[in-house]
Amino acid sequence: MTSASKADRKALLVDCDTGIDDAIALLYLLADPGVEICGITTVFGNISAATAARNTLWVLDVAGRTGQVPVAEGSELTLVGEQTHRTGDVHGGEGLGGAEVREPSGRVVGESAAELIVRTARERPGEVHLLATGPLTNLAVALRLEPKLTGLVKGVTVMGGAALAPGNITPAAEANVWHDPEAAQAVLSAPWETTLVPLDATMREVMTEDQRLSLAGSRSAVARFAADILDHYMDFYTSVFGCRCCACHDVLAAAIAVGDVVPTRAATVRVAVDTSPGPARGATICDLRGQYKGKAKQRGATCTVVLQTAGGFPETVVQRLLRT
Ligand code: BDR
Ligand code: CA
Repeated sequence: MTSASKADRKALLVDCDTGIDDAIALLYLLADPGVEICGITTVFGNISAATAARNTLWVLDVAGRTGQVPVAEGSELTLVGEQTHRTGDVHGGEGLGGAEVREPSGRVVGESAAELIVRTARERPGEVHLLATGPLTNLAVALRLEPKLTGLVKGVTVMGGAALAPGNITPAAEANVWHDPEAAQAVLSAPWETTLVPLDATMREVMTEDQRLSLAGSRSAVARFAADILDHYMDFYTSVFGCRCCACHDVLAAAIAVGDVVPTRAATVRVAVDTSPGPARGATICDLRGQYKGKAKQRGATCTVVLQTAGGFPETVVQRLLRT
């Protein structure tokens, strides 16, 4: 972990549906003195935006950061006003597995998620990076609220999509994009520098049960909380991988957003989202035809799709949480 002067700290706004791996991503970021989380906004997805906000406030309590980061609630419905089903089997009914979650001591702020994003970006033009680890509804609403937002933020990192890998919530679609394809289309086609961290990368960075047990045996309350929530996540992922382990989705995107992980394979290409009502709804169609002639940047493209990272990242997460 690096120590950084206040001016050097990376300013981050995190938009999430605090679920288990969102919580791990937040704990990972909160443990980095080089990162300034200037706001956390919540969206429906794994659970409701209200429950995600409650879980976020609880994560701040666990991390000893109550009251230090503003938390704003965002959209409960998609951009076109629909409700999609929640993914309770993956994260548990309340989003944090079976872990004990008490009434948090902090409260959400009065402004909405999109308002907080826009206000922060206006106050600190060119300084703040957006990290999205849930459906992209809040970001799409923020873009409607302030069309100049694309020029106000430093960049955007999104956990979502499946470029060449299969989907997870449907055969074609990844959950965050599938929950609100219209919002994802708006965000991924907007003219800002975006890094998309899809299942191609996140399903290859797998945390093992032994790593979880090392967290469980720690003296750190943060590490033990992480082990508690990951217990449920590994129950779910046993049906995916055939052994007790779990993918590192949101925390990998977090690490890429702050520069801790540099992708080993990525391509800057146009990305279209399937918004049709058919079986491909929510699929991310990444134009990777150029891969046969190297990784030439596609003209006009601003979305960098991460296809691979080096592996071994879960141990970095574990070591950081053990040090908290
Ligand atoms: C994504 O969906 C959610 O279940 C996770 O929190 C992650 O953001 C993975 O597809
Ligand atoms: Ca998430």
